[in-house]
Amino acid sequence: MNRVLIIGAGGVGGVVAHKCARAPEVFHEICLASRTLEKCRRIAVELPRPIRVARVDADRTPDVVRLIRSFRPNLVIHVALPYQDLAIMDACLATGVDYLDTANYEPPDKAKFEYKWQWAYRGRFRRKGIMGLLGCGFDPGATNVFCAYALKHFFDEIHTVDIMDCNAGQHGHPFATNFNPEINIREITQRGRYWEKGRWVETEPLSVHRSFDFPEIGPREMYLMYHEELESLVRHLPGLRRIRFWMTFSQEYLTHLRVLQNVGMTRIDPVLYEGRPVVPLKFLKAVLPEPSSLGPNYRGKTNIGCLIEGVRKGRRKKVYIYNVCDHAACYREVKAQAISYTTGVPAMIGARLMLTGQWRGRGVFNVEEFDPDPFMERMNLDGLPWVVKTLR
Ligand SMILES: NC(=O)c1ccc[n+]([C@@H]2O[C@H](COP(=O)([O-])OP(=O)(O)OC[C@H]3O[C@@H](n4cnc5c(N)ncnc54)[C@H](OP(=O)(O)O)[C@@H]3O)[C@@H](O)[C@H]2O)c1
Repeated sequence: MNRVLIIGAGGVGGVVAHKCARAPEVFHEICLASRTLEKCRRIAVELPRPIRVARVDADRTPDVVRLIRSFRPNLVIHVALPYQDLAIMDACLATGVDYLDTANYEPPDKAKFEYKWQWAYRGRFRRKGIMGLLGCGFDPGATNVFCAYALKHFFDEIHTVDIMDCNAGQHGHPFATNFNPEINIREITQRGRYWEKGRWVETEPLSVHRSFDFPEIGPREMYLMYHEELESLVRHLPGLRRIRFWMTFSQEYLTHLRVLQNVGMTRIDPVLYEGRPVVPLKFLKAVLPEPSSLGPNYRGKTNIGCLIEGVRKGRRKKVYIYNVCDHAACYREVKAQAISYTTGVPAMIGARLMLTGQWRGRGVFNVEEFDPDPFMERMNLDGLPWVVKTLR
């Protein structure tokens, strides 16, 4: 009997719940838990079969332990916020339950994206005989699997990777973020960083950009950023010489972001307002649209993929692997926009592979450490079909 506990009832949590509910042969019982119980209930009534719902503050390990002891899941799928990663991993350790997430831990008072805090759990997870799977969304997640698939089937050695994330959708709001506004803005306002010839190279935020002609979308300006999958792929792709991450933004989005930064609304340190400490970015999150509310009017497509170069049998080779996702089609299927969808579906696939024993291990892993084939096969079956273009 497989029982899965989903923590987080936002845009991504809703997609995971929908997709797990439609696969009763693997996910026999489901509990959706979040800080606001009403949000769990709202998702639960849309599902094709009954699930349990619960309120939990996942920043508090004892509360998560209590919930795990009462529901007795085999796996916790954590799709709340990265701040809760370590508290939930501690609860999994205390109860001997497997763990999966889509974003690496960030300390709330410093926007810092590193796997070191979670990789430090490897020994403890191994000794407890449980598995932790990190970064199993789309990027990180499917993009790591694309690299592992390319290495397995197309290359003897991969030399360069460019991960390119394009959202060409229109949601009708002057400014909104496609996943949690606080986490999203912390990520985008960081200095850029890529890895080349064995060292990290830093750039001014969003200062390096170029145009790329995305299939099914057309040319879009994309900006170099740091993204967490670079850290694990540098470790796991032997022979790698350079890896970069790019994301597209519209001029409208960048102008709003610049104004918000200039007036101090993206600050993450508390300021005193009428005698009370207020974090400007948290207040900004409270007035921006929720990612889960963007779906009904979203039009257009996303294209996320990896442009990979290397050698096979002594010859240079270039391959582009990508997925295109349509916002309106996602909404028709699971009442969510494509960013929530492209994150939630890979999380469900990772959970399925863990529960069916196709991906197993003791310790803490990144997705590219496992056989990419069953994951790629499931992407085609579960709504994220991919394309491989051989360019050289
Ligand atoms: N790998 C990828 O490709 C990828 C892409 C996009 C997003 N992500 C990750 O997915 C996360 C979720 O994104 P989203 O769009 O679903 O965000 P969201 O809509 O803001 O949802 C976050 C959910 O987590 C809940 N939550 C927050 N703190 C909690 C706590 N202490 N205890 C219990 N629940 C808590 C929130 O509850 P309340 O409603 O009560 O605040 C909300 O339901 C993002 O933060 C990001 O890290 C990964």
